[in-house]
Amino acid sequence: MNASDVFVIGGGIAGLSIAWRAATRGLTVTLADPDPGSQATRASAGMLAPVSEVTYTEEPLLRLGLASLELWPAFAGELEAAGGIPVDLRCDGTVEVAYDADDLAQLDELAAFEEKLGLRVERLTGRQCRQAEPMLSPNVRGGLLARDDLWVNPRRVAQALQQAFQNAGGRIVRERVTTLEGLPADHVVVAAGAWSPSLLPGLPIRPVKGQILRLRGPRGFLSTCVRGTVRGSEVYLVPRDDGEIVVGATMEELGFDTRVTAGGVYELLRDAREIVPGITELELAETFAGLRPGTPDNLPYVGRHGDVWVAAGHHRAGVLLAPLTAEAVVAGLFGEADPMPECTPARI
Ligand code: GLY
Repeated sequence: MNASDVFVIGGGIAGLSIAWRAATRGLTVTLADPDPGSQATRASAGMLAPVSEVTYTEEPLLRLGLASLELWPAFAGELEAAGGIPVDLRCDGTVEVAYDADDLAQLDELAAFEEKLGLRVERLTGRQCRQAEPMLSPNVRGGLLARDDLWVNPRRVAQALQQAFQNAGGRIVRERVTTLEGLPADHVVVAAGAWSPSLLPGLPIRPVKGQILRLRGPRGFLSTCVRGTVRGSEVYLVPRDDGEIVVGATMEELGFDTRVTAGGVYELLRDAREIVPGITELELAETFAGLRPGTPDNLPYVGRHGDVWVAAGHHRAGVLLAPLTAEAVVAGLFGEADPMPECTPARI
């Protein structure tokens, strides 16, 4: 194997983004992955949703999400031009809806929290929810509109990144790396998601299983990204430009189990049908389970870790944080200021 400046292990959206950005800065880059884009990236719905995914006590993650969200439009534009593949970036916002009175009370509290943080959300009555998305059930009690949230097709992003990276002179090696010993590069970047601890024992990253479904319907069946709380449980429906709808996702702490289960599929369809009843007419095109890389504080590890660089542990925000993560790692390679200092692996 020829020597490179940078050797990236892992071809998910984080590893591919780092590899592409490093190659466009003139570095020789090799990326190793037996099947790039086939794990958590493939399972992801692609919501770029720091506003509607905000959670209590996770304000550092919100700051990073908002910073990366700002990078997304230019990142997607450059990527489409460099990779020649449209990535379906959508800017119509997210409608968050509540199914029963308790769900509405929870959403009201979330709206108050979001407003306190200075985030732009509009409260909607049930009728206004249905004006924003006509396929919503008449039972939806009310909701919120988060206009600033975006969404994208992560499978297309992964394809475009591979193409753009190779067009920039990068090399993809379709192999699994099992040791950090003797890799032919000045810098090694571990971006292997939930599998990163197999190369860096002691890195506190664990797999968090997410089951998703893909439904196939007529183009435009659903016009906007919908997140719902249905009797306390969460579900989202994300439309694609070709008529597919991604329905997700379970959150399960089951180690490296990627079985799709009857219970997981049932719960997703049950909750999705309560808020968008028309989905029962659609084809069930795919079921899939991916492993989010979770960390103890829900922040990723991005930065120098001993002799290598790490970019892993993005949990539920891998697609959203990809542009900022790439900037952070490439800045590190060039000795520039770190835009993600709170993500340093030194906090382990
Ligand atoms: N960000 C969506 C999920 O993790 O399911």
